Amino acid sequence: MENGKTKNIVFLTGAGISAESGLSTFRDSDGLWNNHRVEDVATAEAFVRQPETVRSFYNELKKDVLSARPNPAHLAIAKLQESPLYHVTVITQNVDTLHEQAGSENVLHIHGRIDQVVCLNCGKVSQALGSVTGKTPCPFCRKEGFLKPNIVFFGENLLFLDEAQNALENCDIFVSVGTSGTVYPAAGFVREALLRGAETVEINKEESAYSFLFQKRFYGPAGKIVPA
Ligand code: OAD
Repeated sequence: MENGKTKNIVFLTGAGISAESGLSTFRDSDGLWNNHRVEDVATAEAFVRQPETVRSFYNELKKDVLSARPNPAHLAIAKLQESPLYHVTVITQNVDTLHEQAGSENVLHIHGRIDQVVCLNCGKVSQALGSVTGKTPCPFCRKEGFLKPNIVFFGENLLFLDEAQNALENCDIFVSVGTSGTVYPAAGFVREALLRGAETVEINKEESAYSFLFQKRFYGPAGKIVPA
């Protein structure tokens, strides 16, 4: 607790929270990983072997993601930060920016952001709203061929992990929304919250791989349940 009144609430969000904004999840029957092999588009090896295939996968995905708009679940989480009763942190596995568009201020993109690229030459992160190819120069060092989508590939370290750990250590209420609870380390965050004595809440379309770790569970569309 921050003081006698304010509770620290940490949301961990996954693809399910953005489903009602029209974005695909990963592991549902129509999910991205049912149509694409992770090994082809979401690993460092794939990026070294076939950078243009990987870049074009994220260029296409980016078009859908950037045209999406927040739904009532994103908006309700953003609204909660206006309450003096809660200090809100959003840890999101999503590479979209719907939490920010909804007005959330304290958002940790542990799996990166699709509207950004990182330069493998100078290490700087920049915004990239359009398509990126092997010819696109880094806006900082001007070198071509070094821009990688700022997305954490399988096997890479998460971003903002220290900040996420800090939020979990001080967490009073942990709410998981729209994630299958299958990808670590994010799927382990609820255990850390439990060990700190936090109340744990799951909101998901259906029971997930880690539902048993939650004290309160609500199943149905996030766009209805989160505002309620
Ligand atoms: P998944 O596709 O694994 O899980 C999405 C969850 O959302 C499922 O449990 C669905 O039942 C639920 N869901 C679907 N529609 C919903 C709705 N309208 N309301 C509430 N829940 C709904 O996606 P994630 O758990 O986010 O990583 O996947 C985690 C990571 O795996 C992603 O960040 C991505 C992927 O590989 C990277 O790309 C680095």
